[in-house]
Amino acid sequence: MQQIRVGVAGATGYAGQELVRLLGRHPNANLTVAMASTDADKTLPQFAGIWDGEISAFSINELVEQTDTVFLALPEATAAEVGPVLLSHGVRVFDLSGAFRLRNESARARWYPETPAGVTAVYGLTEHNRGALRDAQYVACPGCYPTAALLALQPLVQAGLVMQDIIIDAKSGISGAGKSPSAQTHFSERHGNVTAYGVFAHRHTAEIEQELAKSVTFVPHLVPMDRGILETIYIHLGKHDLNGHDINTSTIEKIFEGAYSDAPFIRVRASVLPDVKAVAYTNFCDIGWKLEEDGTRMILVSCLDNLLKGAAGQAVQSFNVASHFNERDGLL
Ligand SMILES: NC(=O)c1ccc[n+]([C@@H]2O[C@H](COP(=O)([O-])OP(=O)(O)OC[C@H]3O[C@@H](n4cnc5c(N)ncnc54)[C@H](OP(=O)(O)O)[C@@H]3O)[C@@H](O)[C@H]2O)c1
Repeated sequence: MQQIRVGVAGATGYAGQELVRLLGRHPNANLTVAMASTDADKTLPQFAGIWDGEISAFSINELVEQTDTVFLALPEATAAEVGPVLLSHGVRVFDLSGAFRLRNESARARWYPETPAGVTAVYGLTEHNRGALRDAQYVACPGCYPTAALLALQPLVQAGLVMQDIIIDAKSGISGAGKSPSAQTHFSERHGNVTAYGVFAHRHTAEIEQELAKSVTFVPHLVPMDRGILETIYIHLGKHDLNGHDINTSTIEKIFEGAYSDAPFIRVRASVLPDVKAVAYTNFCDIGWKLEEDGTRMILVSCLDNLLKGAAGQAVQSFNVASHFNERDGLL
């Protein structure tokens, strides 16, 4: 069986730990190195029985020497610096940061000012980009909020059904903010509390708008869960589909069936609205929807685990596609 030497940079972070768990058991991956920022030779008890190596201090030379593929679970600015160097040495990169997700230069300069020009990345929304992912050398894995929004919206937008005024009301568990505590994320602030943040000022808005080619109103909230995202999405539909037919329940069912019949990690459930517990610790994205009787308004609910389908799981899924493995390998 083909074994690819893989490394994880940022292995002590929330997303990086999930990568070690997945790649440590992946049938086609040999996890040769897992790195933190400065700590050398540290073992993490949660990896016992999954991966027997030691966490080492970050070293770009070791990544180049000991891996064919690197998963970057690093802060944006660090990924922006490290990613292109790895690429220039022929190492394939799956970058979980946002550094290379935006294609428009002015949007990129606004939201990711450290990102250099010159790297063309494939946007790794696996279900919608399998063709481009095959043999891709640099994959910009989507953000957790955009993954939930795009998986629900993309089929309907591509079918020409969605008018303007898309509203995405998103709730996320606190692990979405990473492992470093802050005044906004520590327990006594978050326990029993819900807060909207980043209104008209969240970089994931630019990412969702880029992929949909439509403007959206996106309002994220922090809720007192450790992991998981739930997005309630409000859309207006045109009177007819692209073929001039009225829009009804069966129109929507056919669109989702066409988009996801071969997608092992998407579970579309008309009328049964999903919840976070059904997707926690999995790579599934669950999508539920309700259509108003006259067919003009629709509510979608999209749910995923921000650390798996929203980060490490989707990265491994894209790695499987890029490497011509079964998309489920290491995940199901
Ligand atoms: N959390 C999520 O839900 C989520 C979802 C999608 C995408 N992402 C993206 O994934 C990336 C990682 O997120 P996270 O939440 O896992 O972050 P995190 O918990 O803060 O972990 C960051 C990791 O990067 C390491 N690190 C920090 N600075 C470094 C440096 N200068 N050089 C080398 N290593 C360094 C840290 O090592 P130490 O332990 O030594 O500090 C740690 O292992 C981010 O770009 C984030 O935007 C996160």
